[in-house]
Amino acid sequence: MADAAPSAAGNRLRRALILLGAPGAGKGTQAKEVARIYGVPHLSTGDMFREHVAKGTELGRRAKPIMESGRLVPDEIVLGMVEERVARPDCAAGCVFDGFPRTLAQAQRLEEILSLLPLRRAMAVNLAVDQEVVVRRIISRRTCSKCGAIYSTDAKMPQVPGKCDVCGGEIIQRPDDREDVVRQRMAAYQEQTRPLIEFYRRRGQLLELDGSRDIATVQRELLGLLERLQ
Ligand code: AP5
Ligand code: MG
Repeated sequence: MADAAPSAAGNRLRRALILLGAPGAGKGTQAKEVARIYGVPHLSTGDMFREHVAKGTELGRRAKPIMESGRLVPDEIVLGMVEERVARPDCAAGCVFDGFPRTLAQAQRLEEILSLLPLRRAMAVNLAVDQEVVVRRIISRRTCSKCGAIYSTDAKMPQVPGKCDVCGGEIIQRPDDREDVVRQRMAAYQEQTRPLIEFYRRRGQLLELDGSRDIATVQRELLGLLERLQ
């Protein structure tokens, strides 16, 4: 997740986009493409934590056991990391949040953080997908351990088995994609993150999308919704 230079295309977005949805709903898949198309940073807190874990930082050592249990990392750790990242100049033209915010406290703090940036009103997109479908997607997901590119044994796998098409990194199954951990992640989503749909709906900041269709269809519809925003 390298820093991107502020781009002219980003001026078409000029807002923070927040992708909401259960684990496996397709947030990462869609966020990467939207960020690439608009030339703005893709900010996945899950990817940031996995980078810290891979590098063995203090933050990574704190986050690792929590992530592997399927629970949420405490708000103060997440918020410190996000505030540092959003303060960098490449977020001035907007950004795409993936997996953040995930609690009401995070959403409230994000409003304050974004109010300091010269951006249009943030919009949240809820990717709605049935629970059985997301569980199946997670079990079949494979990920690049180096750049985070997403693959699926049901759909797209790398051209050279075991090696990422983007960076040549090793393809792995995420440690938290085991079935027992997935159940805990779903419970955390229902209890702590799902209420954010209502939070953004009440503020008139929610777009809803049927995320159960194929990746290209979801992407086309998402881009259409974004282009129609004022
Ligand atoms: P995180 O990495 O954010 O995981 P998650 O929210 O559980 O979401 P996933 O990455 O599993 O799913 P996704 O929606 O990105 O789906 P994807 O596009 O990969 O968080 C991991 C952990 O970090 C958390 O449990 C927590 O401990 C911690 N954490 C992170 N952020 C935090 C925060 N803010 N606060 C506290 N703790 C935090 O797609 C899934 C699969 O489906 C792929 O194989 C893909 O190819 C496939 N697919 C995608 N779309 C489609 C489609 N339309 N049709 C068919 N297949 C599809
Ligand atoms: Mg993801």
